[in-house]
Amino acid sequence: MKYIKLYFLLALLIVSCKTVQETTDTVISITPTETVVDTREIQGGMWIPSLLEGVNETEMQMLGSKLTAKDIYDVNNSSLKDAIVHFNGGCTSEIITPNGLLLTNHHCGYGAIQSHSSVEHDYLKEGFWAKSYDEELANPNMSVTFIKRIDDVTDAVFAGVTDEMDEAAKMKLINQNILKVNKAVEKEAWQDSKIRAFYKGNQYLLFVTEEFNDVRLVGAPPSSIGKFGADTDNWMWPRHTGDFSLFRIYADANNKPAAYSEDNVPYTPKHHLPVSLDGVEEGDFTLVFGFPGSTNEYLPAVAVDQIVNVLNPAKIEIRENALKIIDSYMRTDPAVKIKYASKYASTANYWKKWIGESQGLKKSKAVAKKKELEDEFSKIVEAKDLVGYSTLLADFERLYKEIESVSLARDYWMEVAYRNVELLGITFRAFQIEQAYLRGGEQGFENAKNAILNRLEGTFKNYSAEVDKPVFEKLVALYAKKSPKAYSPSNLEGVNFTDLANTIYSTSKLITLEGAKELLTGTPEEAIKKLNEDTAYQFGKEFHTTFYTEIEPKFQELNQQLVAVQKQYMKGLMDVFPDKRFFPDANSTLRVTYGQVNGYEPRDGVYYNTTTYLEGVMEKFVPNDYEFDVPQKLQDLYNAKDFGDYAENGKMPVNFIGTNHTTGGNSGSPAIDAHGNLIGLNFDRVWEGTMSDYNYDADICRNIMVDIRYVLFIVDKYAGAKNLIDEMTLVHPKKK
Ligand code: ARG
Ligand code: ASP
Repeated sequence: MKYIKLYFLLALLIVSCKTVQETTDTVISITPTETVVDTREIQGGMWIPSLLEGVNETEMQMLGSKLTAKDIYDVNNSSLKDAIVHFNGGCTSEIITPNGLLLTNHHCGYGAIQSHSSVEHDYLKEGFWAKSYDEELANPNMSVTFIKRIDDVTDAVFAGVTDEMDEAAKMKLINQNILKVNKAVEKEAWQDSKIRAFYKGNQYLLFVTEEFNDVRLVGAPPSSIGKFGADTDNWMWPRHTGDFSLFRIYADANNKPAAYSEDNVPYTPKHHLPVSLDGVEEGDFTLVFGFPGSTNEYLPAVAVDQIVNVLNPAKIEIRENALKIIDSYMRTDPAVKIKYASKYASTANYWKKWIGESQGLKKSKAVAKKKELEDEFSKIVEAKDLVGYSTLLADFERLYKEIESVSLARDYWMEVAYRNVELLGITFRAFQIEQAYLRGGEQGFENAKNAILNRLEGTFKNYSAEVDKPVFEKLVALYAKKSPKAYSPSNLEGVNFTDLANTIYSTSKLITLEGAKELLTGTPEEAIKKLNEDTAYQFGKEFHTTFYTEIEPKFQELNQQLVAVQKQYMKGLMDVFPDKRFFPDANSTLRVTYGQVNGYEPRDGVYYNTTTYLEGVMEKFVPNDYEFDVPQKLQDLYNAKDFGDYAENGKMPVNFIGTNHTTGGNSGSPAIDAHGNLIGLNFDRVWEGTMSDYNYDADICRNIMVDIRYVLFIVDKYAGAKNLIDEMTLVHPKKK
């Protein structure tokens, strides 16, 4: 039996290697007795699901997949893609039952769970489980989107574009073509479509989509499971987080998208993922299917250098200061803890990511590696006299040098005046109203006022001026000290920021919703006058004016040139290195990434295993701790070893890692086995590998997944929501 398996595998490898050899340079040797392929070379990349036939299909099979390209994406028959759903624009989710049950991360459902929570019914703290459809909770602003079809429309988008045109003329025509093609697309009345650029604008794909807006909360574990380890463990391995939550899509009586209605019924999907009870082991094939947000894998060395040495350090410092202050308030006031939970998590998330990313880029010598590639590129360009590519690297050098201070100023404005000092963010909204008035008169004013007041309702629901004031004081002082002087507003010279904060937070009307509404009452002229007498508005307006008159125009001017150079460089790389693997950068469209379950060596002499277990949760357990508390019920189940059918040799697996190339947006993506079954739920990456957004390296870049058996165990044994387990299709692919 063993022999048959081995021969089969060898035959497959040899056949696959042949195909691969023709198209890539990844095969290192073929001998019958040892490993024939350096599998690290065929991992990494986020591939377009409709274009997997050929190289990707072969690579996947070499990694152990039994799936065909058509099993993954098929327009005419149901395929895995029909179970993959973009979750609220920023995450991924998947359908796991015939009744439209959606699985995603706890941190993706976090805002929704928070919005149903109060100090009395704190679902963040206690968890939430609907025991029947009736108990499922509606989420007014939530949407989920299916991809029905992907068409390559590159030729139509480039119609009429010639080499003689300058970049502005090309882009103008391209944008006109995009509108035309998108208008003419064949689709149903309830569907939408959009066109997105790939390979830096060298390819265009059209997506026909279907959006559902009635999405209800079904279940969420308490944060002490769903967010176990919180920010201390975030971006870290070994990890022990049950980062999942459950929602359900509702449709009208015809199974079509419909606004929320009591009459809606659970959606019937074209496909739902069967759930594997057999787990994973090192070397197993894994496929992650989802909506990665953005990567920048083909930046020149000079750009990566700037990120590591200039931009990341500034952003990290700003957030570190804001987080320290907010954290001190959250720890002492439970109401503040709820209000700031989601905001704090998202600010902390990228703060920590940038730190790991910078370290990883340095350690992996990303800049030097990019330089090497660029040298090779230049040599070939020169040898072959490829004039179209000959000035690109010099152009990058010049433009990145020029854009550096304005990029930095832009980051300071974004991080301080737009994002982290909330009152300045509020003055920005008010500033938009004044701008709308200047441009559009009374009507412009009214429209902007209504839209923005609506938005501010949400802002103020989770706002505390008491927390925001010290953040203002600290961050504005930092801005004055460190942001590039050439792009600084004029009102920061010689200011005492403590006095300034005292004045503004004791006099401004913009620290409450009522105050903001009051300022905006009356005729537009009256409102604008009152606004301009407000202390916070006066101060904020200087920042926003500087942003719009100095920072943004300069940034856009240089950035447009960079975009054009980057587009040509991408084309150049593909021409000059025809045998290298190039995948398009992530752009929030549906992608497939594949790899294997695999440990890694974070530092010399240390090897990290692939899997963590409930033992590890108990090892980290600190009673009543803010981050590492463990619910009593989970402790009891652990002590009784009451793991149902979900354990592996008597132990309860929690998380595992693999070489799948993921990024922000892939959270909630399914990890799928060689046969198309659900084995895990992607939620994070390891600290040493967060640089994968710029420099994927199969040696240390790992994605982190919740073992699906831990999800089942929590739903079944912890929550007693057997009703949900009964909806699922449980399978044993390994026990044939
Ligand atoms: N790092 C993961 C991701 O980027 C999980 C984030 C959860 N948030 C947190 N601050 N713990 O989304
Ligand atoms: N945690 C990320 C997300 O929310 C995934 C990642 O960046 O690896 O999408």
